Amino acid sequence: MVSFTSILLPLLLLATLHSTPTLCYVNPASPVVQKDDTKTSAGRTYIVLVEPPRLADQYAHRRWHESFLPSPCADVSGKPCLLHSYTEAFSGFAARLTDVELDAVAKKPGFVRAFPDRMLQPMTTHTPEFLGLRTGTGFWTDAGYGKGVIVGLLDTGIYAKHPSFDDHGVPPPPARWKGSCKAERCNNKLIGAMSFTGDDNSDDDEGHGTHTSSTAAGNFVAGASSHAVSAGTAAGIAPGAHIAMYKVCNSLGCTESAVLAGLDKAVKDGVDVLSMSLGGGSSFRFDQDPIAMATFRAASKGVIVVCSAGNNGPTPGSVTNDAPWLLTVAAGSVDRSFDAAVHLGNGKIIEGQALNQVVKPSSELYPLLYSEERRQCSYAGESSVVGKMVVCEFVLGQESEIRGIIGAGAAGVVLFNNEAIDYATVLADYNSTVVQVTAADGAVLTNYARSTSSSKAALSYNNTVLGIRPAPIVASFSSRGPSRSGPGVLKPDILAPGLNILAAWPPRTDGGYGPFNVLSGTSMSTPHVSGVAALIKSVHPGWSPAAIKSAIVTTADAVNSTGGSILDEQHRKANVFAAGAGHVNPARAADPGLVYDIHADEYVGYLCWLIGNAGPATIVGNSRLPCKTSPKVSDLQLNYPTITVPVASSPFTVNRTVTNVGPARSTYTVKVDAPKSLAVRVFPETLVFSKAGEKKTFSVSVGAHGVQADELFLEASLSWVSGKHVVRSPIVASARS
Ligand SMILES: *[C@@H]1O[C@H](CO)[C@@H](O)[C@H](O)[C@H]1NC(C)=O
Ligand SMILES: *[C@@H]1O[C@H](CO)[C@@H](O)[C@H](O)[C@H]1NC(C)=O
Ligand SMILES: *[C@@H]1O[C@H](CO)[C@@H](O)[C@H](O)[C@H]1NC(C)=O
Ligand SMILES: *[C@@H]1O[C@H](CO)[C@@H](O)[C@H](O)[C@H]1NC(C)=O
Repeated sequence: MVSFTSILLPLLLLATLHSTPTLCYVNPASPVVQKDDTKTSAGRTYIVLVEPPRLADQYAHRRWHESFLPSPCADVSGKPCLLHSYTEAFSGFAARLTDVELDAVAKKPGFVRAFPDRMLQPMTTHTPEFLGLRTGTGFWTDAGYGKGVIVGLLDTGIYAKHPSFDDHGVPPPPARWKGSCKAERCNNKLIGAMSFTGDDNSDDDEGHGTHTSSTAAGNFVAGASSHAVSAGTAAGIAPGAHIAMYKVCNSLGCTESAVLAGLDKAVKDGVDVLSMSLGGGSSFRFDQDPIAMATFRAASKGVIVVCSAGNNGPTPGSVTNDAPWLLTVAAGSVDRSFDAAVHLGNGKIIEGQALNQVVKPSSELYPLLYSEERRQCSYAGESSVVGKMVVCEFVLGQESEIRGIIGAGAAGVVLFNNEAIDYATVLADYNSTVVQVTAADGAVLTNYARSTSSSKAALSYNNTVLGIRPAPIVASFSSRGPSRSGPGVLKPDILAPGLNILAAWPPRTDGGYGPFNVLSGTSMSTPHVSGVAALIKSVHPGWSPAAIKSAIVTTADAVNSTGGSILDEQHRKANVFAAGAGHVNPARAADPGLVYDIHADEYVGYLCWLIGNAGPATIVGNSRLPCKTSPKVSDLQLNYPTITVPVASSPFTVNRTVTNVGPARSTYTVKVDAPKSLAVRVFPETLVFSKAGEKKTFSVSVGAHGVQADELFLEASLSWVSGKHVVRSPIVASARS
């Protein structure tokens, strides 16, 4: 019996790969294609951006939006063509329109732009203890486990009756809560549940939303296990917080128009944290991306929006949900193994993992079957596998082939990772005797299989083992920076657990796993960080989303628990574009000392710089903010908690302002870590504060010399150090910014 707390997290990598789209705005499977299932004789769905209505009474938005549409406006079946009228997070509406109707809409005064509705996908839990959260002690208790904070999730719905959503110990929601709950069980834990997918049902047929919700804010559940492994107490990161589910995805994915509707409602209802484990698979210019615009409005109303970086790694530039106002989360491993071993006939033992643990395995050695031609297990219906231990390469979505091989009479299957996945094994549920091993161990195995015709192996299982090293490592699938739409701001921001995460799962009719399941993806790392944001919000209710982000980013662990570098899937040092500022550290995040805050005015200046005069009206929803009166703020000069500069021999200078949120009287001195080829100067080198809330501005200039042409970027860091706090910001000198 292992007694640790399992954190439940849902960015589903696997689910995403077969059928489910990724929610927090990440799609591991394919770039988002314009799905034609929205196109019928009745036209297709468009998201229409318009200027805000002049009047702002209760019905003004709907009337204004209807004025753009033919009257009456309905399709052949009589369904109204206006699908959603957005009021809080987006200036506009979603409507089903023919090409002719769209042309007419576009000619009306006040029209700005129309976007065809895109299909997004959802992205897929041990982990509070790995993050330093222990029941009954320290920070977790101080933060009241996130009490009084409302975490909204845009996802596939929720299995409301799961024990993770019991409300023991959770007080009633705060009076400001305006939402409603339509689910099989609503209580002080699950205070909101609504569907925007066309039906009135907030149930979770996919499992993804149940997994992510329990990871962010699931209550304590004793004896959580999945596939007979990982017994322990499960809890979300903020077990005292309230959950509000906005169902915006179903088995087909998440339409952008539904995601916007959920976002709009969440802002109106009064959520504090919004967790989005979904995405579109690619990065769009922020003014071409309705969700980037709507999340800006959410953030400017005080909601901290946490999103998946995406599952398109390890390709550079694959990060999505990369707007500066989002907290963008990469995925890494935890120090846990669902331990299994392959015992070879030559006496060697290869350590691996297995989600389906066999209680009494046979110790008999079976002949190995490996063939280069059948490398990925294409043995459909063949009798050659009978009685063999079949060795092949792991591919996502291979479950039915593997079950077929076992069904045909194979003794077992050993799957090895390809070079891209390398050490970051993504466990899959084969409901069969399957052990998964790393790429390096795969080479040992295949070399042995080729070296002798009498090669043999047996499998053994060892339940859950903690303390695995090195951990964390960045998962291969985790999308990498730099951001294509905004290379001047480092993305992803932060690394959190997203590989082989155990969290809540709905019961399945086929008798499969549940009530917990193990999933991987940036969908799973995202709700961990949403939970951390909820803990901070509980201790510091007045902090802005930018301040909470700064707290999480500047206190992240740049090294692992023994002081070594955080590694990537290939066991190389993980760079900033893989791990952002480093691995989330909840206890330190609640007491950062200093924060880099970003005021709404500064963001207006940024939008003017980025988009021009139309920026404030369309994105901020306030046409009285003309760009000529707000100074333009470039991406590099935004008061972000990380620093990006161009690589240039003449020093480039950025200014930053920090706000004292630690002890009133404190003195910080600067500490710079930089490679020889970067000269980093900070002025002044000491910041002396005498009161809480006091702000100090400093400048950082970075010059590069002797840089090799092939060095696309160089990494350094600057830390403000007092007796109690270290406030660290990575510095990226990038050839692209
Ligand atoms: C099984 O796990 C224990 C720790 O739980 C470890 O000490 C032991 O080496 C493992 N055995 C095998 C064969 O991996
Ligand atoms: C920390 O990382 C180093 C490599 O950078 C590794 O050798 C060590 O095992 C890691 N420690 C832990 C606790 O993972
Ligand atoms: C798993 O395998 C067992 C027996 O091998 C079978 O009874 C059960 O239906 C399978 N479950 C699923 C979900 O395939
Ligand atoms: C940075 O601050 C210095 C000193 O206050 C000022 O002269 C300079 O214009 C600032 N630079 C930018 C880009 O704001």
